[in-house]
Amino acid sequence: MKLNQNYANLKDSYLFSTIAKKAAAHIEANSNAEVIRLGIGDVTRPLPAAAIEAMQGAVTDMSQAATFKGYGPEQGYPFLREAIRDYYATKGVTLDANEIFVGDGAKSDIGNILDIFAKDNNVIIPDPVYPAYLDANVMDGRPIYYIQGNEENGFLPMPGAIEAQNIKPHIIYMCSPNNPTGATYNKEQLKAWVDYALANKAVILFDAAYECFITNDSLPTSIFEIEGATKCAIEICSLSKVAGFTGVRCGYTIISKELVVDGTSLAAMWLRRQTTKFNGVSYIVQKGAAAALSPEGLKQCRENVEYYLENAKLISKTLTELGIWHTSGNAPYIWLKCPQGLSSWEFFDKLLAEANIVGTPGAGFGSCGEGFFRLSAFNTRENVEKAMERIRKVF
Ligand code: MLT
Repeated sequence: MKLNQNYANLKDSYLFSTIAKKAAAHIEANSNAEVIRLGIGDVTRPLPAAAIEAMQGAVTDMSQAATFKGYGPEQGYPFLREAIRDYYATKGVTLDANEIFVGDGAKSDIGNILDIFAKDNNVIIPDPVYPAYLDANVMDGRPIYYIQGNEENGFLPMPGAIEAQNIKPHIIYMCSPNNPTGATYNKEQLKAWVDYALANKAVILFDAAYECFITNDSLPTSIFEIEGATKCAIEICSLSKVAGFTGVRCGYTIISKELVVDGTSLAAMWLRRQTTKFNGVSYIVQKGAAAALSPEGLKQCRENVEYYLENAKLISKTLTELGIWHTSGNAPYIWLKCPQGLSSWEFFDKLLAEANIVGTPGAGFGSCGEGFFRLSAFNTRENVEKAMERIRKVF
């Protein structure tokens, strides 16, 4: 018996586990500390009423023989896949419900989708970015190459960054709006990426988990708004942020029937993988998800999204007043440059010790994040206001 030696190449613990441990130790050592969490991007608003009602109805269905449900279709119930298809239609994207695969969240699908790719593929990962991409590929031992996001390119690396390294790209990760920076590719930039992937026969794994925070109508909320993307991209999205499903768990992966590599359909491979290793998302959750994506549900989701965006504006206003460089807009995150020349983790420690605020060190998203910091807008207005008062006092 041999263990997967690639695990030895992982950092000791996943970023958000490290932060949770540090916060817990601080609370234990300072029993009166009233810590405000602006770290992990976890929602705080209750679920939209439409989702709650639908889930309550689904529980009732389970109580009666005539409506009881056992195993559901591994790909997701047609009613939810159709609701997702209709949601994409509002973006001007035409999908077939059979191209949509329901899962339990973007993080799982982002890791699991790697099952259909060879382990010697070159992986291109933007830096900084959501750390799950890196860890999932380290576990598989794939060669990993970074493309740098920085102030000069607005944290939006372009294909030239791969060409400059003379690498043959196979799998390209993209996250737009980006977690943690909020930087969002425009249509022209995404078109350049799609053309590049097509020319190089690479596959783009496009994480759209934060699409609902895009407030600028001219920016694409799906890679499938770009011509040619159906032939080179897989989009992964989630109801966690748009509908507050972080605890409920539901997401989806979209693979067009046009995405074919050497005669093999990637959608068919993914379905084959899912039918073997996955038994689907619970009926109750899928009912809630479909209701959240209904016109009424989306209106309610929008109210919550606006609430978080308003929090983000409050944070941005405070940082502007304090003269702290930051970016904001199109995301529930504020990406700031650590003041006083502090490193990301030094700033984390200072903020926790002196203001009882938990944030996320930029260095945890990649080496280009060093010297930066992420504040999440997912909290109550009251807590955000309190946190901003504390930051004003410390800085
Ligand atoms: C984050 O804080 O980056 C995200 O909430 C983590 C996640 O979505 O898994």
